[in-house]
Amino acid sequence: MSVTVAPVTGAGLVDVIPALARLRIAVFRDFPYLYDGDADYEADYLADFAAAEGAVIVVARDGTEIVGAATAAPLGTQDTAWQAPLATAGFDVARTFYFGESVLFDAWRGQGIGHAFFDHREAQARTHGASHAAFCSVIRAADHPARPVDHRPLNDFWRRRGYGPLDGVTTWFDWKTVGGGEERHELQYWTRRL
Ligand SMILES: CC(C)(COP(=O)(O)OP(=O)(O)OC[C@H]1O[C@@H](n2cnc3c(N)ncnc32)[C@H](O)[C@@H]1OP(=O)(O)O)[C@@H](O)C(=O)NCCC(=O)NCCS
Repeated sequence: MSVTVAPVTGAGLVDVIPALARLRIAVFRDFPYLYDGDADYEADYLADFAAAEGAVIVVARDGTEIVGAATAAPLGTQDTAWQAPLATAGFDVARTFYFGESVLFDAWRGQGIGHAFFDHREAQARTHGASHAAFCSVIRAADHPARPVDHRPLNDFWRRRGYGPLDGVTTWFDWKTVGGGEERHELQYWTRRL
């Protein structure tokens, strides 16, 4: 496999953000996210992310081409809307790392890159003194009309990585959906002790 997976931090983040934006727009267009991506929104959101102290983008490259990426940052650097449900649930915001997205082009899936994304993000979290990691997944109805017949949820993978859903701990986030308008989506928090 000619793919390399490596963390990028600090001043290097801005160089990989355009590729991350392209990945987010392409990969999140599919079920379950169905995100009708907007380049201007991506630029703003990712610039804020890159400015966060302790942020990491784990980058998968095939040769020089960026084919996947995953993000993480201290929860305390993220918008308070992301922090509040975890703080209410009793998590110490200062000792929790938030994992943003993992996005990998389809042709490179199933080779262990998703595991490497978790390994590097968990290492970054531990380096920054975090005791817990958290991320969100979108909640979709099992009979959602856009669900492909061969869709494989990642829940079992996440459980094998030691994560579990926090019962009743969710948040809401609006985005424009493919073929629809701006819609409110409920997101489930998953966490694990590091
Ligand atoms: C999440 C993602 C990055 C994982 O990438 P990956 O490199 O294929 O993952 P790995 O090869 O490390 O495999 C991870 C697990 O996924 C499972 N898996 C492999 N291929 C799969 C596929 N085509 N579909 C669903 N799950 C698959 C495997 O069972 C594996 O678990 P195991 O090793 O414990 O058996 C990739 O699936 C992706 O980009 N998905 C779309 C975006 C998304 O939903 N991201 C997560 C939320 S932000």
